[in-house]
Amino acid sequence: MAQFPTTRLRRMRQHDWSRRLMRENTLTTDDLIWTLVVTDKAESEPVAAMPGTKRLTFADAAKAAVEARALGIPAIAIFPNIDSSLKDARGSQADDPNGLVGQAIKAMKDAAPEVGIICDVALDPFTDHGHDGLMENGIILNDPTIERLCQQAICQARAGCDVIAPSDMMDGRVGALRAALDSEGFEDVMILSYAAKYASAFYGPYRDAIGSSAALQGDKKTYQMDPANTDESIREVELDIAEGADMVMVKPGLPYLDIVARVKDAFALPTYAFQVSGEYAMIEAAAANGWIDGERAMMESLLAFKRAGADGVLTYFAPRAAKVLGG
Ligand code: PBG
Repeated sequence: MAQFPTTRLRRMRQHDWSRRLMRENTLTTDDLIWTLVVTDKAESEPVAAMPGTKRLTFADAAKAAVEARALGIPAIAIFPNIDSSLKDARGSQADDPNGLVGQAIKAMKDAAPEVGIICDVALDPFTDHGHDGLMENGIILNDPTIERLCQQAICQARAGCDVIAPSDMMDGRVGALRAALDSEGFEDVMILSYAAKYASAFYGPYRDAIGSSAALQGDKKTYQMDPANTDESIREVELDIAEGADMVMVKPGLPYLDIVARVKDAFALPTYAFQVSGEYAMIEAAAANGWIDGERAMMESLLAFKRAGADGVLTYFAPRAAKVLGG
């Protein structure tokens, strides 16, 4: 490369048209997966720690699906907030055919069948101890939990869910889920594995949103990954692919872009990042204080996922970003 002053990198940055011509990455509505919380309450209610989002009733979730279709958002990932009186040690509501998740899926699929519905597989929204698995003497049991997760996934598939997304981090659950789905005739239901999921402080507002933070006993460090590790994420992803994952996810998002880039480079399969509740809350809080331009920060953070190699982003910003992209 020629040196300065022959080469001037600012030359190409002068105009909007020349910046557009050399732009390497773009964000489109096709990259967005809208994460939203559903509730069995009679009214939708705002989530305090996540300004601009609400826990949605079935009726409002159905409206959100219609809105997603209109905005060109391909899929919605739903997370349930059930009444704490319905929670128990085994997370009975997780596979109750008349439970919140099944009803929400049906309402959304009836309203906008073209929009993909992604369901979280884990017990934490349903357990009275707030853990993703079954607990005995303070230990989260791996294999017995997998049995419950399979029952949960089949219940979701029966309700019409398109994508099963295990977020529990039990070993071996992807293979077990694939076999369970296939044996019930759901061989076309996809699996999006939360393959590299870290034990993160950035989930704080979400646990509030689904009402599990008060309940959570201890932490999730015996099943979610240590934030210090990167080689381990490759092993996690490799195993999930071998067990039949169609897509993999890295979570949280922005603090783990190095993992997104490594995973995409290593395996070249559909790779997603989850811009989690704490990331959303930080941008919203700073914007509300006038410390950053919220819209620009939102779009810049979403584009960063594309630059790192993600095929898409799970984000609470999805409808707002889609509106910006739609002009
Ligand atoms: C748990 C689950 C979590 C999130 C999605 N599924 C939280 C946790 O592991 O405690 C976090 C989502 C977010 O923070 O936006 N199965």
